[in-house]
Amino acid sequence: MGHNVMALRHKHSRGADSNGEGPVAAPPHLYRSGADPVWWALDRFSNVWFPFWNRVTTPVVPPAIDATTTLEVIRREVVAHDENVVALTFAAPDRRELAPWRPGGHLDLLLPSGKMREYSLCGDPSDRFTYRIGVRRIPGGGGGSIEVHDTLTEGSRVRIKGPRNGFPLALPGHGSTATRLRFIAAGIGITPILPMAAAAQRLGIDWSMIYTGRSLDSIPFTSELARFGDRVTIRTDDDHGFPTPTELLGETDGGVAVYCCGPVPMLESMRSTLVGRDDIEFHYERFSPPPVVDGNRFSVRFARSGVTADVSDDEQMLHAMQRAVPSVAYSCRQGFCGTCRVRVVSGVPDHRDHLLTDDERAAGWMLPCVSRCAGDELEIDV
Ligand code: FES
Repeated sequence: MGHNVMALRHKHSRGADSNGEGPVAAPPHLYRSGADPVWWALDRFSNVWFPFWNRVTTPVVPPAIDATTTLEVIRREVVAHDENVVALTFAAPDRRELAPWRPGGHLDLLLPSGKMREYSLCGDPSDRFTYRIGVRRIPGGGGGSIEVHDTLTEGSRVRIKGPRNGFPLALPGHGSTATRLRFIAAGIGITPILPMAAAAQRLGIDWSMIYTGRSLDSIPFTSELARFGDRVTIRTDDDHGFPTPTELLGETDGGVAVYCCGPVPMLESMRSTLVGRDDIEFHYERFSPPPVVDGNRFSVRFARSGVTADVSDDEQMLHAMQRAVPSVAYSCRQGFCGTCRVRVVSGVPDHRDHLLTDDERAAGWMLPCVSRCAGDELEIDV
């Protein structure tokens, strides 16, 4: 079996704010298109082989990177018993067909306040006229989820970018050498997993899921999972305590591709458990920034104001910048969206992103959400 421990970026910076200014670019993997051989084949032949796969069969034409579309909220449902998660269904104001997407895809919501937030699509890819997302209200976060909850009512309109996909599903026997799928979701992490499970079910792939969370009241979409019967195990912390990686993994035989979405500690424990397991693919998506590894202390000076902020060895440079300049733009906080990029005036950056090109770095750009300083001080054009 092929080893495929994939360090996929998380795309839901639900606690992150952006003022929406500045260039926004994304790496090519966020725009997987109809050129993908597995999905290309399904796009063309699934009407024959998988009649229920329906409209996912249209070849994908991804939207331009910075193109925005205005959508209308046509349905708003509370989908967790604690009433802290809403599912919003969007359609075009003129009800025209929307750009297609595949399981693992997400939208960028450009909120009226200027904040930008990314949310997984959790509806049915074969429905080409609506998109659906699920949003947990996070008091004390960056304010984006609260704005969504408080302002996006039925009939309201919002601009979006996307869909894009940074958490693609590779099908066993086609894009993957695995023979089974194991889905691991925690809380709101169910959102990208829902359409994956539905796809696996439709395509007759052997799959199972464990869905965890604080309590039954806190986890959304449980009623939608009921149709999958015993393929889905719901395990809540209040009844069973925190699950171990082995419990999350279920069977430990090889030949399985694991798709995992949840909090960083869960993902990190799964990653370390699977080190050396060349027979298990691990695909994951984070909802919060990764911890700083091998960080150093340095200071960052804002050239326009002369203000200086100290960056501790375990904190993002972006976080220190926000203390001094709260309006600084950001979104993903993981080095893939490009929203936070700033130009270095002096000092040597320690680039830790996989987004900027050599030319952009040579021109002085850096991404302070993941990158740091190779010395004691950086001066930036902010
Ligand atoms: S916030 Fe997305 S790259 Fe920094």
